[in-house]
Amino acid sequence: MKGLILSGGKGTRLRPFTYTGAKQLVPLANKPVLFYAIEDLVEAGITTIGIVISPETGEQVKATVGDGALFGAQITYLLQDAPRGIAHGIKIAQDFIGVDPFVLFLGDNFLREGIVPQVKAFHAGAMNAQIILYPMDDPSSMGVAVLDAAGHVTRLVEKPQQFISPYAVIGIYMFDQHVFEAVNSIKPSARGELEITETIQYLIDHGLKVGAQPLTGWWIDTGKTSDILEANRLILDILETKIAGQVTDNSRIEGRVVLEPGALVINSTVRGPAIIGAQTRIENAYVGPYTSIQRDCVIQNCEIEHSVVLENTHIQDVSSRIADSLIGRNVEIGRADGQNKALKIMLGDYSKVGIL
Ligand code: DAU
Repeated sequence: MKGLILSGGKGTRLRPFTYTGAKQLVPLANKPVLFYAIEDLVEAGITTIGIVISPETGEQVKATVGDGALFGAQITYLLQDAPRGIAHGIKIAQDFIGVDPFVLFLGDNFLREGIVPQVKAFHAGAMNAQIILYPMDDPSSMGVAVLDAAGHVTRLVEKPQQFISPYAVIGIYMFDQHVFEAVNSIKPSARGELEITETIQYLIDHGLKVGAQPLTGWWIDTGKTSDILEANRLILDILETKIAGQVTDNSRIEGRVVLEPGALVINSTVRGPAIIGAQTRIENAYVGPYTSIQRDCVIQNCEIEHSVVLENTHIQDVSSRIADSLIGRNVEIGRADGQNKALKIMLGDYSKVGIL
């Protein structure tokens, strides 16, 4: 079996981060979302992996992921000229996939419990395709599956405006080579994309065996900011303490905290679950639960919690507590004159903010 990860697309919902970086490289607990997808495939025994990249962010993805050696995999990059749809991503991978069955993994999807049971079920059921379903109160921003009384999938609709079923189709699919007939037959949708839902509908309509597995653990599509904070929170919840950095005597480390090598905590409290990246300095500060701070940051004379801070960002002398925030790379937040105000921040890479 092979793996195909989609790491192209526009990432418009995550702007401004995605002006300067791929959305699949946004970190969860200081590790790019995409890395978890690769690890899930490798854990399921799938080490021949293709990654679909875009002209805009492809080089950055390649530089970060490499040839796969880091993961015990062999990675081939497949360039998609424009975001023409998920099924278009399958179409351009036809030569790479050949006649092997494969797992299609959308690079911004995150699963807590991996894909081992689903891969086993796919093989055991001798299916042509398999989707994974996740019940939601409001699945209107996803592909949605309608089932008949016997539990068979009868219809798939992309982002339905009206409620038709609670079952969101998550971004991890399994196919055999019949999928190529489907992606080569369907036409672009009204939004100009070859849709994955229409691809699977084609298979159902042509009498092929499409199975559906329920998902037991949690799943997140990290393509939206609020979901990144939520996914970060969920991952930090399963974090194990590891102190490879330095903590001065007058500092407190409470709960489950990871200090990466070279991290320095001076006269501060870090209350986990939290992760502090390599070479980051926390000084006269409070870092509260559910916070991930990447490498080479400075957090000084301020309080921050429930936030994600990307690399090389400096936050200094801020009197209001920073909470529920996603802060990009190379950002500088400093003190400006004026009275205290609550802060809720979403900043792009290279932003600078003066705070009242
Ligand atoms: O997350 C699950 C949902 O993913 C499914 O329920 C939907 O049926 C499916 O269409 C998809 O919806 P999204 O709106 O989340 O798709 P998005 O445009 O965010 O693309 C998903 C991933 O695929 C993302 O990592 C970018 C990548 N991609 C997307 C397109 C359209 C590509 O690499 N190339 C593309 O042309």
